[in-house]
Amino acid sequence: AASSIKHCLAGDVPAGSTVTVQGWVRTRRDSKAGFSFLTVSDGSCFDPIQVVARAELDNYASEIQKLSPGCSVRCTGELVESRGRGQAFEIQADSVEVMGWVEDPDTYPIQPKQHSFEFLRDVGHLRPRTNTFGAVTRVRNAAAHAIHRFFHERGYYWINTPIITGSDAEGAGNMFRVSTLDMANLPRTDAGDIDFGKDFFGRETFLTVSGQLNVEAYCLSMSNVYTFGPTFRAENSNTTRHLAEFWMVEPEVAFADLDDLANLAETFLKYVFEAVLAECPDDMAFFAQRIEPTAIERLESVIKAPFVRVDYAEAIEILQASGKTFEYSPEWGLDLQTEHERYLTEVHFKAPVIVLNYPTEIKAFYMRLSDDERTVAAMDVLAPGIGEIIGGAQREERLDVLERRMDELGLDKEGYDWYIDLRRYGTVPHAGFGLGFERLVSYITGMSNIRDAIPYPRVPGRADF
Ligand code: 4AD
Ligand code: MG
Repeated sequence: AASSIKHCLAGDVPAGSTVTVQGWVRTRRDSKAGFSFLTVSDGSCFDPIQVVARAELDNYASEIQKLSPGCSVRCTGELVESRGRGQAFEIQADSVEVMGWVEDPDTYPIQPKQHSFEFLRDVGHLRPRTNTFGAVTRVRNAAAHAIHRFFHERGYYWINTPIITGSDAEGAGNMFRVSTLDMANLPRTDAGDIDFGKDFFGRETFLTVSGQLNVEAYCLSMSNVYTFGPTFRAENSNTTRHLAEFWMVEPEVAFADLDDLANLAETFLKYVFEAVLAECPDDMAFFAQRIEPTAIERLESVIKAPFVRVDYAEAIEILQASGKTFEYSPEWGLDLQTEHERYLTEVHFKAPVIVLNYPTEIKAFYMRLSDDERTVAAMDVLAPGIGEIIGGAQREERLDVLERRMDELGLDKEGYDWYIDLRRYGTVPHAGFGLGFERLVSYITGMSNIRDAIPYPRVPGRADF
């Protein structure tokens, strides 16, 4: 009897076994000697499997010779060691059953040739059938599992924080509104404002920009926790590093300070890189060959070397002393721009860099104030080629200081009352960070546009599929 296998398992099944592989045709080549070679992929590994269909098969002329890229097939036959180059095994087919035709082969967008990534974004429903997006999908999956494993092995609880929220976790005001109100006929208060009290939740609500505030509450009872879920930002940045919808990993650690957090970030990234290299060698070899020549080496070197740690103040001095002309000149008190981050990681240190202790004015309200109040216990992890990949901080655990900072920033304390409560009832030092999952995938694969690191990118002006 034929056992149905994923084509990546071909190497694990003894040669001579009868197997069934189901998938989508990548290519068909007819030999003059009276048979056809099909390559078929079910998405399970980088290389498709070759299926040899002899002319004696019933449907050879009527169907097999009409197969084109994208057709779906079920192939059964003997698994044999391949004599051809480029694959270890092939299937000598006893049957090739056509499951689904491609109606008009000329209109099928994914042809066996190089397509631009811009073009492939327009056919986002079919791009996972390409080499590149199959590989990105597998690497993304391996990285996500590694992240969960990392935390699980260390006793962190995965907390599912809400998507719909009433509070702006970053205080940056770039949230998408969630509403069921009739836009054409908005209810008004006596003063003429939109009456969100009549909305679904009886108040104004938004899509979350970060699970941090919610996960802090669980941190202050479960100790070590993390979120891993979608987050949303309505920032109008049409760049290769920003998405309107992205996935964020946010650990939060009780009884920890900034130094503990930097150690966690470093161990964590190295763990994930190691896992992907071990689990996706073929996909990573492809990225190194076709997308980013250093894709493998740079992960290997990041795994080996300790991350560089510098204070923000020192980073500014390095940039000022660099002699390089930047578009934005580096100055104490201003945020680091991508060009600065890239200089530090790619030119000066040639390694990932953790920048610590940023000026108070440029960071969020929840970060712990230093004694001289000029800086907060914030950290960003910068990666060569990308810039900021992780942002985090030790949190302000002192009730009076937190309230004072919120007042200074003009934040509505009432809305954050539940968050402030955590400082009223058994506060402890704690720290956490956020990793942009797509920035991580982009860094690992070398895919330079973040839109190619997520299955369905959401960016300004675009939310098809
Ligand atoms: O630095 P951010 O804004 O930090 C926070 O949201 C904190 N609440 C995290 C925490 O401490 N728990 O975002 C964290 C990371 C960034 O370093 C970046 O990698 C990613 O999220 N990120 C984005 N990724 C894609 N598209 C965007 N628009 C992003 N904005 C932030
Ligand atoms: Mg940040």
